[in-house]
Amino acid sequence: MSKFIIVLFPCILFLSCARKTEETKGVILGFSQIGAESAWRNSNTRSVQEAASDAGVQLLFFNAEQKQENQIRAIRSFIAYQVDVIAFVPIVTDGWENVLEEAREANIPVLICDREINIKDEDLFAGYLGTNMFQQGQRSAEFLLKKFIEPETGELFDEWEAPIKIVELRGTEGSSPAIKRAEGFREMLAGFPVFEIIYSESGDFLRSKGYELMRDILGNLQDIDVVYSHNDGMTLGAIDAMKERGIRPGLDIVIVTIDAEQAAIDALKRGEINAVVECNPNQGPDIMRLAAYLARSESIPRITYMHEEVFTQWDDLSALAPRGY
Ligand code: AHR
Repeated sequence: MSKFIIVLFPCILFLSCARKTEETKGVILGFSQIGAESAWRNSNTRSVQEAASDAGVQLLFFNAEQKQENQIRAIRSFIAYQVDVIAFVPIVTDGWENVLEEAREANIPVLICDREINIKDEDLFAGYLGTNMFQQGQRSAEFLLKKFIEPETGELFDEWEAPIKIVELRGTEGSSPAIKRAEGFREMLAGFPVFEIIYSESGDFLRSKGYELMRDILGNLQDIDVVYSHNDGMTLGAIDAMKERGIRPGLDIVIVTIDAEQAAIDALKRGEINAVVECNPNQGPDIMRLAAYLARSESIPRITYMHEEVFTQWDDLSALAPRGY
């Protein structure tokens, strides 16, 4: 009986993979990525490229090098090429009406990936696949509530003094992760005036800017209790700046970061970060699956969110699998 299962299982696996590949094979997908600003982004790119190759999808891949005009140009070239489906990661939320109108006129369905857009006519795209960035902001604040507030009384734990001063390192100006992570965070802390965001600045999701911002902030502001950073790259840069000034990250300043790349998990294990809120970059397989539906003119859900977790200083992380990025 067990032999039978052992023989049958790979066959079933093979057949289901074969069927999946059958559905996606030959689909021509134009994909516009925003660039390579972080380890997270590189992993996201890898996920898309590997999934396309596994699925037999013909991928036209363009890297926009952080410029919206390059993305618009890439989308226009996909339209000219008459791809089956267009997918893109919008660097910012606004300014997509014209090019999406052009895609609609050409009858090419569009899948928005990773970052959201802000548009009046929502029918200009078929659906969104990515991560829940508002929730990531909420989860970051939720950690702070657990760390600082006594649940029974709603007051600060004895060891802390009000106000709790927060520095926020924001992502790229006008991008949905920067907007939503800021909104979710503020919404969750709204009933707790003891928390004060004393400084908030964009570090463009770059490690180098995270370092520079933190170096300048530490030169001007005293008694920072918390750094809330919209991505691990900026966090790791900020940690470098703290160490240069003899500040112990994770102890002297509580640090909450978003992404969950390996370097951040390692810093969490060393006690230099207090909480890591995951943003899942492994979107490639789902992009191929949804692209196949769209290529067959089938509808897809308006929103598909990736599964994500939160890792904190109180968790046992010894069994956590390597992140791969
Ligand atoms: O859009 C997702 C964000 O973009 C990630 O949090 C960040 O690291 C990236 O570059």
